[in-house]
Amino acid sequence: MMTAELADGVGVAWAPVALRVKELEEQLSSMRDSLICAFNQLLDLKDLNTGYHSTRLAEWAVRVAQELGMEESVLKDVEVAALLHDIGKIGVPDAILRKPSRLTVEEYALMKKHPEYGWAVARLFPGLERTSFYILHHHEGYDGSGYPGGLQRDEIPIGARIVSVIDAFDAMVSSRPYRQGLPFEEAMRRLVEASDTQFDPVVVQCFVCIAQTEMPAVFEATGTSTTVVL
Ligand SMILES: [Fe+2]
Repeated sequence: MMTAELADGVGVAWAPVALRVKELEEQLSSMRDSLICAFNQLLDLKDLNTGYHSTRLAEWAVRVAQELGMEESVLKDVEVAALLHDIGKIGVPDAILRKPSRLTVEEYALMKKHPEYGWAVARLFPGLERTSFYILHHHEGYDGSGYPGGLQRDEIPIGARIVSVIDAFDAMVSSRPYRQGLPFEEAMRRLVEASDTQFDPVVVQCFVCIAQTEMPAVFEATGTSTTVVL
């Protein structure tokens, strides 16, 4: 058994301490997973999730992060941010969220608050600190044209740059009561078109590569061929 000497010469057994630390880490991890599930349920209740798309897209976000060489320890943060990036929309009035027509300037200003609302909630939870910054910056534009910080290029946390692409793709291919989702190929074309302006070109390239590899299996599983069903 490993021991250490305290200042007064009393020997301390490290093994039980290490075991307790491991137990506490597992408890924290389990609490974090429960919290993420609860947040996801909230998004479902508000009809802000696009069904099981979000889970698949979160997997793709992690794949992009891996391809970009992000450390193993932050992959979970990217996954959680991909799942919960729009949690702040819970603070936006339904009349704005579900408005079938174009938003007014005032309504759009309120809608643009959702990254800050999401950050304000997520940052309160131990273990979601980095995730909260990915949420805060998921609408920044690569050229500095986004919000809330007007950050550009490397100033934007890489996890947020990944979530930005995931979010845009999800929004384009998802159907709404008032409009049909775009076909997969058109969504891909628009992402590539906005490389280096709205999106990090390296992230787009990586995402398109992964999505194109995965889509045939998705089509096969869902029996679709023209419109993407993730
Ligand atoms: Fe968003």
